[in-house]
Formats: sequence, structure tokens, C-alpha cells
Amino acid sequence: MAYREIYNDWKTDPERFWLEAARAIDWAKAPEQAYFDQGPAGEWFADATANACWNAVDRHVAAGHGNRVAVIHDSPVTGTIRKLTYAELQARVASLAGALKARGVAKGDRVILYMPMIPEALEAMLACARIGAVHSVVFGGFAAHELAMRIDDAKPRAVIAASCGLEPGRVVHYKPLLDRAIDEAAHKPDFCVIFQREQEVAALIPGRDLDWHGFQAGVTPADCEPVEGNHPAYVLYTSGTTGQPKGVVRHTAGHMVALAWSMRHIYDIGAGDVFWAASDVGWVVGHSYICYGPLLVGATTIVFEGKPVGTPDAGTFWRVIAEHGVKSFFTAPTAIRAVRRDDPQGEHVRRHDLSCLRALFLAGERADPDTVTWAERQLGVPVIDHWWQTETGWAIAANPLGVELLPVKKGSPSVPMPGYDVQVLDEAGHPVAPGTLGAIAIRLPLPPGTLPTLWNAEDRFRKAYLSHFPGYYETGDAGYVDEDGYLYIMARTDDVINVAGHRLSTGAMEEVLSAHPAVAECAVIGVADAVKGQVPLGLLCLKKGVETAPETVVAEVVRMVRDQIGPVAAFKTACVVDRLPKTRSGKILRATMCKIADGADFRMPATIDDPAILDEIAVALARIGYPQARG
Ligand code: COA
Ligand code: AMP
Repeated sequence: MAYREIYNDWKTDPERFWLEAARAIDWAKAPEQAYFDQGPAGEWFADATANACWNAVDRHVAAGHGNRVAVIHDSPVTGTIRKLTYAELQARVASLAGALKARGVAKGDRVILYMPMIPEALEAMLACARIGAVHSVVFGGFAAHELAMRIDDAKPRAVIAASCGLEPGRVVHYKPLLDRAIDEAAHKPDFCVIFQREQEVAALIPGRDLDWHGFQAGVTPADCEPVEGNHPAYVLYTSGTTGQPKGVVRHTAGHMVALAWSMRHIYDIGAGDVFWAASDVGWVVGHSYICYGPLLVGATTIVFEGKPVGTPDAGTFWRVIAEHGVKSFFTAPTAIRAVRRDDPQGEHVRRHDLSCLRALFLAGERADPDTVTWAERQLGVPVIDHWWQTETGWAIAANPLGVELLPVKKGSPSVPMPGYDVQVLDEAGHPVAPGTLGAIAIRLPLPPGTLPTLWNAEDRFRKAYLSHFPGYYETGDAGYVDEDGYLYIMARTDDVINVAGHRLSTGAMEEVLSAHPAVAECAVIGVADAVKGQVPLGLLCLKKGVETAPETVVAEVVRMVRDQIGPVAAFKTACVVDRLPKTRSGKILRATMCKIADGADFRMPATIDDPAILDEIAVALARIGYPQARG
């Protein structure tokens, strides 16, 4: 069937469509019904029971594929490559799950994971799934305070962490960060399991911390425990408009059905293929397409501990693809921009035999046509932009390679996937004509695999996503659809920015800046950056009578953001200004300041209080290296 037929097939009878897709999963009790009109936005396969670890691991062993490689750990930062077969993965996960169970971790308990890109991170996720525990992975680039907030929200019974992570030229000391986070949090986990890496052995706190290997000694391996289809598989926190992150909930059955469908139909990956998502287990891409997706279909997944450039050079991606026979490769446009900056002529590309590669998939931020063209030319394969969010867990719009490759339109992530009725709406909630910019919304219900609610925050879920346009899920993205039904994602409608494919809240950064004793008022905006897409920039108004030098305040707030949010915020620049531009009702004109910093055209906001402030802002920005601001 072609894309259009599949999409129409779904639209005609969604129930049948998803029950058929559900046949890709092994059920303890098969679903008789797909959609359930319950919970704030509906739920999927609530009558069924299954286990995600069984589907991702054990069933492949049971089918005689135990010797197939499940996970390849390729770590240019440690200079090692390690492979785990499905049988080895099964034994390791069953043992870890058994040890967690022996310590009292049971179905529904939360377990926070704070791990770098090592196979043990996947093992910990799968061990939780095996016994029905709910994992919540926290990205290693977040600081102790962010981890503490997640501990207080998820209230985990246990934390599983590695002793350290390895960034180029720097060891990330996970254990001291974890200790600080637990000190700060009101909730205390019963115990922590520490995976000691040879690069740094952490000091364990007696009575609380257990060694990864030691605590598994002599335990009975755990079997897979089937859970209800709407049992939470995991909670993954993502940035919203405030400093309090949103805990996106993923239900077990819909997650598996959607991911299995997407592996085959979008990425064209099946059993025995090698799939590589160069992201991190701390992000949704890591959950869906480093861990669960490829394993659910019996493929080989790559856990890559390195960077696109500098580990050791801009040829790393191509070396990994050639060495392991990667068929579909997925990364963020920022990574390709970084590679291109170091190797514009693609000399590294030509040093490797990339004949195994079928396609490059890009997501996480808009794939700019220039980057897509460069990659296409270098690799000679389709470069496929696709659009999704932590909330949806899989692509809302894509070019479904496994169905048919539709004509690629650069700048567009192509067309909606089955399950997604995407509409572009005006402020009043009415669909707009093709070519007209508007808020992008998805008619409810959302498909399987998407978020049913926020962890412990149903009201926030309704308010953030469902209330603005009744009957729709509000994506927070703005854009348009063209005459052929291709989507174009142009901007966020909220204060979320996208830095190197990472989603960050400017509101969270403003909360940190406001806490500086010299700061009276502040704004954080996302300004254009050639490699990272956007980077945050702070504007600070100091309190009257402050004697600290502006440069000192700037250096201090930069340090505060790094300490409290983490290095991933990439907050390196701020400037002191006398006043911030506002509307007459007092709203700070952040979008206008972004345009000034980027040197883009803008219309003077009709409601601006004092237009002269915009000139002052332009002068201040020009002084700190945004010369275009003056133009
Ligand atoms: N643990 C600890 N620190 C981390 C980290 C982790 N897992 N990941 C990143 N950081 C740190 C980096 O070391 C850097 O710190 P620094 O300020 O001391 O240099 C900071 O966080 C910013 O990281 P990042 O924005 O990722 O930039 P980078 O300098 O590490 O390089 C590029 C990033 C430019 C190479 C970028 O192209 C890239 O690959 N980004 C990741 C894309 C991605 O995976 N997106 C996920 C969606 S698919
Ligand atoms: P995250 O939840 O971190 O995956 O970030 C999701 C957000 O990233 C989306 O709401 C978009 O703003 C942006 N995004 C992700 N993929 C794309 C894409 N292909 N094109 C444009 N924006 C994207």
C-alpha cells in the first residue's frame, strides 16, 4: 500500500487499523478494543496485558535469535567497542530486575536512572520494564538541582546511576551530583545502585548505595511480569514554560504498538537490520529509538558514546556507519552542521564505505534546507526530516521510507503519519487555508504511544495541551500546510527554545537569573546560532544602587545557570541593559528582541510602551557581538 492508502485506511477505521498494528506485539492477553474513552485524553489497549521487556528482548531469544547482536556500544571517548547478543542482554536484564525486586522494587514503583551512554542504561530501563517498575531517565547534562526536582516529583524508590560520564576532555562526576540532588530533595530514595566505571570509582554511602555487581550477586533472575496496556512504562521530564519540568507519561501497550509500526513503516527497519539513533538515553529519541524501537523489532541498536566532531574527528559518524553496517541513521540537524563545519568538502565521508546506508533521518529541530542539501550530496541517500516531540514519542509527520519515499520537499518534515489528524488553526481555533501560518494542533484522540497525561499533574496537562483549542492537542509549534499536505514547522508558540536539538525553557533560566541579588528584572531569549540552531541570551536590568560591576554579575549568572540547570543549557552570554521593552500591559517583548539580535525584520509592536527602548537594546547587543542588531 502507498502512503495515501495507509493514511486513509487509518482514517476510515482507526480501531481496526491499530488492532492490526497490535499484531506485531506478543500479548499475555490480546487487546479486543484499541481505543478507550477514559482519562483526560483517552487511552489505548487498556484491556490487554503484555510486558515490554519480553517484547524487546526475551521473545527474540525464545524464537531462536539469542545469538543475534542486540546492542553495540561504540565509545570513541573510551576507545572501546562492545557487543551484547539478545541472549546476553536477557541474562543481564533478568539479573538486574531480580536484584531490584529482591530490594522491594515492585510494579508501579518509580526508579530514576542517571546514566551516560553505556549499555547498562538500556539494561536498567529494560529491567524496570521487566517487573513493571516505572523508569524516569534524567539526562546527564542536567545539574543536581534539576535532578532533585525530578526526584521530588517522581518520588522514586531507587536511583540507578553510573559513577561518571565522559564528555570530551572532562569527566562528569555523576555520583557527587547525585549526592547533592538527594540532599536537596525532600523525597529520599530507599537505595541507590551505582555502576562503577573504570574511569572513576565513586565513594559509596554505606546503607544507601549499592554496587551494581555486588547487589546482583546470588539473586534469582526475575521473569517478565505482564502489565495492563495503560500501565505507565516510563515518565520522561521535558521543558515547559516554567522551571518545573513536565513529566510526560508513556503507557506500555500504545508505546510498543506505535514504535513497532514506526520502525517498519517510517525507518524501514526489521529483524537483523542495524539501526542507529545518535542521541542520548536522556531524551525521547533515546527512549524510542536507541532502546525500545529497534529492540522491539529484533534489530541491532547502537549506543554511541561520543560526539559528531572531536571524538576524534568529523569522520566518526561515517566510521560507525561503515564499521557496523548501519542501514538507517538518525541524528539532529545540529550534529550534521557541526560535521559540515569541520569537513565542508566531505573528505571524511569518502574515506568510508557507506554502501550499507539507506537513509539519514533528522529530527529535534527544523532541518534547514542547506544542511539537508549538503548531507544529500555527501551521502547520496535520502535525507528525511521528521517532526515529533517528547510528548508524542514518535513522529507526527515524516516521509515513510518503509512505505514509499514521497518526493522530498526541503524545509518540510513531509506529511502526517496515521493516527495524527494535523490541523493548522487561527487564534479562534478555526482551520486556516493552505499556506497560512497558524498554531499546529492535532485533533483528539492522539494515536497510541503518545502521552495520556502528565505525571501527577492532570490539571497541568489539560491546561498546557487541551484547553486552548477544545477537541485538539496543542503542539506548541506554529507553521503551515502546503497545497500537497506537506507540513512546515516554523516556530514555537511558547518560550521553549531549541539548543543543539535540546529543548530548553527560557522561563527556567529566567527563574535562575532573577535569583541573583543584583538582578531586578530579566529576560532570556533564543538567538540564532550557525551550529546549535539557537542559543540562549540573557538580558539583565540591575537593581538601583548595585555596585557590583556588570561583567561580574554576568559571569555570576552564567555560573548559576550552569550550576542549577546544567551545562546542557549552554547559557554563556548575557548583557546588562537599563530597561526591557514591554507592552503597555507589562509583557516583555521577547520575540521582538530575538528579531533584533538576529538582525531580522520586525514590525514595531502596536502595544509597545516606549519604542526608544528597542534602540537601546540594539546598541547593547551590538556591544556584545551581535553587530547585525544595529542594522
Ligand atoms: N552529560 C554531561 N554533560 C553534557 C552531556 C552529558 N550527557 N551532553 C552534553 N553535555 C555538556 C557538554 O559537554 C557541553 O558542556 P560545555 O559547556 O562544558 O562544553 C554542554 O553540555 C552543551 O552541550 P551540547 O549543546 O550538546 O553541545 P556540545 O558542545 O557537546 O556539542 C554539538 C554539540 C554542536 C556537537 C551538537 O551538534 C550535538 O551533537 N548535539 C547533540 C544533538 C542531539 O543528540 N540531540 C538530541 C535530539 S536527536
Ligand atoms: P523535544 O520534545 O525535545 O523532542 O522537542 C520537540 C520540539 O522540537 C518540537 O515541538 C519542535 O519545536 C522541535 N522539533 C522537533 N523536530 C522538529 C522538526 N523536524 N522540524 C521542526 N521542529 C522540530
